[in-house]
Amino acid sequence: MIKKTDFLVIGSGIAGLYYALKVAEHGKVLVLSKGPVIENTTKYAQGGIAAVVRSPDSIEKHIKDTIDCGAGFCDEQIVKMVCMEGPERIKDLIKMGASFDKNEKGEFDLGKEGGHSENRVLHYKDCTGKEIMRALIDAAKKNTNIEIFENQYVVDIITQHHLGKNIKRNTPDIECYGAYVLDPSKGQVNTVLSKITLMATGGIGMAYQTTTNPNVATGDGIAMVYRAKGEINNMEFVQFHPSSLYNPLEKPSFLITEAIRGFGAILKNSKEEVFIDKYDDRGSLAPRDIVARAIDTELKLSGDEYVYLDCRHIDRIALKRSFPNIYKKCKSLGIDMAKDMIPVTPAAHYICGGIVTDKFGKSSIKRLYAAGECASTGMHGANRMASNSLLEAVVFANRAATETTNIVDKFEHYDNIPQWDSEGTVLNEEMVLITQSLKEVQGIMSNYVGIVRSDLRLNRALKRLNLLFNETEELYIKSILNPKLCELRNIINVSYLTIKMSKKRRDNIGLHYSLDNI
Ligand code: FAD
Ligand code: SIN
Repeated sequence: MIKKTDFLVIGSGIAGLYYALKVAEHGKVLVLSKGPVIENTTKYAQGGIAAVVRSPDSIEKHIKDTIDCGAGFCDEQIVKMVCMEGPERIKDLIKMGASFDKNEKGEFDLGKEGGHSENRVLHYKDCTGKEIMRALIDAAKKNTNIEIFENQYVVDIITQHHLGKNIKRNTPDIECYGAYVLDPSKGQVNTVLSKITLMATGGIGMAYQTTTNPNVATGDGIAMVYRAKGEINNMEFVQFHPSSLYNPLEKPSFLITEAIRGFGAILKNSKEEVFIDKYDDRGSLAPRDIVARAIDTELKLSGDEYVYLDCRHIDRIALKRSFPNIYKKCKSLGIDMAKDMIPVTPAAHYICGGIVTDKFGKSSIKRLYAAGECASTGMHGANRMASNSLLEAVVFANRAATETTNIVDKFEHYDNIPQWDSEGTVLNEEMVLITQSLKEVQGIMSNYVGIVRSDLRLNRALKRLNLLFNETEELYIKSILNPKLCELRNIINVSYLTIKMSKKRRDNIGLHYSLDNI
């Protein structure tokens, strides 16, 4: 089957749906989501979205905090632009139907998280992402120009490569004509032709054994663009969230929002010592790279598997009111937040790098834009500040919408695209090959490419990954496609990029820390 659309949006998280709503006035929009429309990382966002809404906060302070957290590696012009445009994008989200908590004075109730010098995080209790997704999905479903196709797996974007041209990484004018999309219910790969495509596929957390990310976070968009010879950078900057709930059998790991530390909770070790002050004056609210590394060091010294978050000094009613979701979760595990300390441990959480874009979200491939976690815009530098991800996603989705609505009419659908060729492939009945390889990649990434790295660990990781790469490519070529196999392939691709870029970085900056760079 061939389907044509003006705007193809790959991903139904905050970046994809916000963009879809903004461009829908200018043409037909097709949104693809590999699972149900609601199943994405955005839904799990807890802390909120950062933006300056009143004094004593200021845009200058937001810029400075972001750059400090990013270890000076951010693109200052981009940071400035995002912080300045943030307040308008919050108004958009509210117009689209999202609610944010207010205090008794009727002002936004602003939370505080690591690295923020002021309270500036707008939130909806501790389920901000769910509230934003509720609003965006409702609005998108009402819009007659937007079609949402769920459970559709995008395998690859279509470029001149599919017309038989030899595309190399430095080939100029690579162009995106749409995507090949697997409909797993029919076992069929369809062709979607678009004038403009937005990649909004989220992060790579599933490359690790322990992650806060849902199963969909397999780095598909980044891997697709890499395979299409597009530009990818900063993949060494994998962010580990300091406080995921220690509950080893639970996948993904449940997040205990940093906003609780902004509310007064304190990190302690098993001796109930406030160890974090040894590492940074900002204590439990230092930037994430510093806190996660401090916990990692502490755990290595003590041999413990977790540290604690102590909320026992905070009023129970206030805890229950502000963090109802976390309160309920802890209760279900027999932890009473007001009486017991919460066991927490770092978990892979966010990728700062990804598809390189300009200030309008344009990638190095023509007619292909990227927004949200899969994009590398220059905003986060070497370490993203808390609650700046949702903000970056809406600012760039908006900018991409402004640019692409102006140029969409210049493009025609490219009609001579060959159908997906599945000749010679057979049904792969041994799913165990895929699940076992996935576990192996996750083991490699967690053991050798974690919070603390070394040349030896990275070299070992690369060697082992190579073997898995070869086996998986072989399997891919001869198998009838299924999403799990494609995801494994993508996870191997993004893991490769993380290892390669980590090996290349010879200084310790932000989230990249190697014993050989000291
Ligand atoms: P996502 O929301 O992940 O959406 C990706 C979409 O792409 C999904 O619809 C998926 O189905 C689709 N997709 C992927 N691959 C394919 C494919 N091959 N074919 C078809 N569809 C595909 N950030 C903040 O700023 N504030 C917070 O409070 C916050 N809390 C967080 C809490 C948790 C537990 C986690 C894990 C992250 C949190 N983050 C937070 C980070 C933030 O939530 C994410 O970075 C952001 O939501 C990513 O949005 P996105 O639109 O880029 O991607
Ligand atoms: C959190 O609520 O701690 C996560 C916020 C984020 O990742 O920005």
